Amino acid sequence: MAATGLLSSVLRCPKCAGPLSAPSGGLLSSFCGWNRAPEAGIWKIERDSSYYFGDDRASIRALLDTAESGGVSFPAIMSSDLLSRGDLGSDYATGWNRADILQWLDLDNKTVVDFGCGWGTYAIPAAFRADGVVAVDRTFERLRLLSMRVRNEKLTNVAIVHGDVQKLRWMVHSFDVALVIGLLEWLPTGLATNPRSVQVGFLKRIFDGMKSGGSLLLGIENRLNPFYFLGHTDHGELPFAPLLPRPLADILTRCLKHHRFTHFLYTRVGYRRLLKEAGFTGVRFVYPIPSYKQTVFLASSLAPETVGKYLREHYVQSSLRLGRRLEWRALKAAMRLRAAEVFLPTYYILGLKK
Ligand SMILES: C[S@@+](CC[C@H](N)C(=O)[O-])C[C@H]1O[C@@H](n2cnc3c(N)ncnc32)[C@H](O)[C@@H]1O
Ligand SMILES: [Zn+2]
Repeated sequence: MAATGLLSSVLRCPKCAGPLSAPSGGLLSSFCGWNRAPEAGIWKIERDSSYYFGDDRASIRALLDTAESGGVSFPAIMSSDLLSRGDLGSDYATGWNRADILQWLDLDNKTVVDFGCGWGTYAIPAAFRADGVVAVDRTFERLRLLSMRVRNEKLTNVAIVHGDVQKLRWMVHSFDVALVIGLLEWLPTGLATNPRSVQVGFLKRIFDGMKSGGSLLLGIENRLNPFYFLGHTDHGELPFAPLLPRPLADILTRCLKHHRFTHFLYTRVGYRRLLKEAGFTGVRFVYPIPSYKQTVFLASSLAPETVGKYLREHYVQSSLRLGRRLEWRALKAAMRLRAAEVFLPTYYILGLKK
């Protein structure tokens, strides 16, 4: 589906919350007079100057400028280290293997909204199977790269939206699939409201915007990530903060970092509760190994009988590094104790709207 038709079917006017129409000439417009045309393939619906991963903004911009003016070939920019500094490497940003999880979803003839789409790691592979993909992010630089990727792949069914997912308003029963990968834990940042309420409120708005029979895919860290017991954190939190009771983590964060503790993560039980509270049913987990950020293996069960042999082969073949070997031993022990599901560092979580 073309971008204007796609957007007018899922988005409401940011000014009056009325429906949007796509008259002609690639314009989106509302009865209240609000209208917008895309700029270089990007719809700036809610102006937002935020930047996610702050330190490299100038160099990323310079790289994107050069690429847009034809100074760097597309493959060169795709494999550039600059692209993904702070984001684990270009396999994370632009590789296709992380999107294998999309095989768990029915995308045929479906409309997908990718909330916090980043560089398009899921949006691009999804667009090859779905009817249309609306890819939303507040970091403009990421969308500029996504726009180049869309053009390079000659995709015509992707609508790229610049804006804050908290402010955008969705038509009810308008999309089939919602992707929320690496986003939910960031949403309460800078807001004064209780972080859990922010997260549930956001999931409820997705639920309302979704058609009956639709699916949500969440990708997020486990609060009981074993590395957190060693002081590792994923979002700049204080060491051990994810594991502490939240009021204590909040006091310590205020004292030592001068802001609130907002990166709320949950256990498996906690995620089930969160999704149920937002209205989703049929909640189930898919286990990305070693994590959703570097997926090489996806499993719906971590029973040693089903995955043990394959995992062993993967770990033994993939690396002789001590860290990887230790990771494998820990995972094997946890599987034997039937505890791997509880302690796996990250989860994919699927929920349905009946
Ligand atoms: C961890 S990255 C994940 C990107 C992508 N989903 C992936 O897994 O590769 C989080 C993304 O969410 C975006 N983001 C964070 N808060 C947002 C908000 N309120 N509205 C829109 N995008 C947001 C950031 O700009 C960033 O691109
Ligand atoms: Zn309006």
